[in-house]
Amino acid sequence: MKVVVAGAGGREHALVWKLSQSPHITKLFAAPGNGGTGGEAKCENIPLPGDSASAEGQEALLDFCKKNQVDYTIVGPEAPLAAGIVDRFRQAGAAIIGPDQNAARLETSKAHAKAFMERYGVNSGKFRIFSEYEAALHYAKKYFRQDSPDLEPRTGALREQPARPFPPASPLVIKADGLAGGKGVIIAHSLGEAESALHSFMREGVLGAAGKTILIEEFLAGREVSILAAVSVSPGKPGQILPFIPARDHKSRFSGGTGPNTGGMGAIAPVPDFSGAPQQDFITRILTPTLRGMEQEKLEYRGFLFFGLMVKDTQCFLLEYNVRLGDPETQAVLPLLDADLSDLCRAVLLGKLDSFPLAWKAGAVCAPVAVAEGYPGAYRKGDPITVAAEAFSHTKARLFIAGASLPSGTAQYPQAVSAGRVPPHSLVTSGGRVLTVAARGSTHEEARAKAYQALAGVSFTGIACREDIGAS
Ligand code: AMP
Ligand code: GLY
Repeated sequence: MKVVVAGAGGREHALVWKLSQSPHITKLFAAPGNGGTGGEAKCENIPLPGDSASAEGQEALLDFCKKNQVDYTIVGPEAPLAAGIVDRFRQAGAAIIGPDQNAARLETSKAHAKAFMERYGVNSGKFRIFSEYEAALHYAKKYFRQDSPDLEPRTGALREQPARPFPPASPLVIKADGLAGGKGVIIAHSLGEAESALHSFMREGVLGAAGKTILIEEFLAGREVSILAAVSVSPGKPGQILPFIPARDHKSRFSGGTGPNTGGMGAIAPVPDFSGAPQQDFITRILTPTLRGMEQEKLEYRGFLFFGLMVKDTQCFLLEYNVRLGDPETQAVLPLLDADLSDLCRAVLLGKLDSFPLAWKAGAVCAPVAVAEGYPGAYRKGDPITVAAEAFSHTKARLFIAGASLPSGTAQYPQAVSAGRVPPHSLVTSGGRVLTVAARGSTHEEARAKAYQALAGVSFTGIACREDIGAS
């Protein structure tokens, strides 16, 4: 079987690595892939014209799939899904894993996603939607001045509030409606912060069309958990959602949850504080109504889904859907998958998830991310990466490359990447999140010790990481 993985990050490297272990897979293509995917067994990077979020790139990929008798394509990131790659492939009769453009609105419009949650009773925080700056600002002013109606779902009626603490104990969460690459959520602790967020999104247009409509949400305190899942929903058939083991990303740049939001500084799986009652609550009040909603709305969704949860005691609130696997959660979850990923993909395509033998290895994975100096702002690029091989052979840790490529003028990918190592000077940094080290241990503590031991063997100028991935 021949499979294309579309995307260029650490998530796609992890997908390629896991798929390459399947006896059913004869050939893998990463489109365009990165310095890690190109060295994996059976895998070849295919640099095609345009990227798969553009019409030109989609045509080129489709053409490639036809000419090379590719059996199916897996789409890693959200941008091609938002741009309708699944619709284009399905129209041409090519098998592809991901939701169509309409179903992808669960991620591409937060207002749409919230309305969907409200329609089907998916447990989530209160919210209001604004497309006019003045109205949003008025709302924020009232909230921070205490003379306001509280956040109520859009009932129309303004409700007088009993006295509440002033200034308000909770910040307001201001979110851009559209895709914003992790830059669309501001937690405003004061009117000044709220006003500047609203101004930059709605007036200055810093996020373009994505910030023209915004949501103001109630702030939910708790611990975040990511649940990745395989989904097979097609009109007219009973749908299926198969959840994976829970994972936890660490989104703030600095240890202890401080500093700016990033694409993710490291992940662990499973999550020690998420089992039993909260897990049951997730199934009952989030997963089940989500599936019912997808069926009722006759969505075409054969792909992966990410539930971003806030867990308070035993209760789960859904913060967001992503219509794809999480990054870096995938790098922490896939090393624990005790099943053939290619078989799982076929079950997604054929609607056979209910009989799929999903199993997980014992133990835990800790997967810290190494980033380039300056990230998440402007960051250094082009620095050679060196790796102490012993750090990886001792710990059996795995290196998943995200933002690193071959130095210009080099044609051969380092084969040693497939053994979880990068030989010295074979790759240079090219992105903000450069790589993830994923180590497995019989306990979280052991996984964490091994991951940091291996990471200590990786160096490039300006390397930075969080020291506390999985520490609490
Ligand atoms: P999102 O893009 O919706 O996942 O938001 C990015 C991050 O902002 C989340 O991972 C949370 O850390 C935080 N966040 C989003 N919505 C809320 C909320 N309603 N309450 C508290 N934190 C939130
Ligand atoms: N780790 C969060 C995401 O993939 O969006």
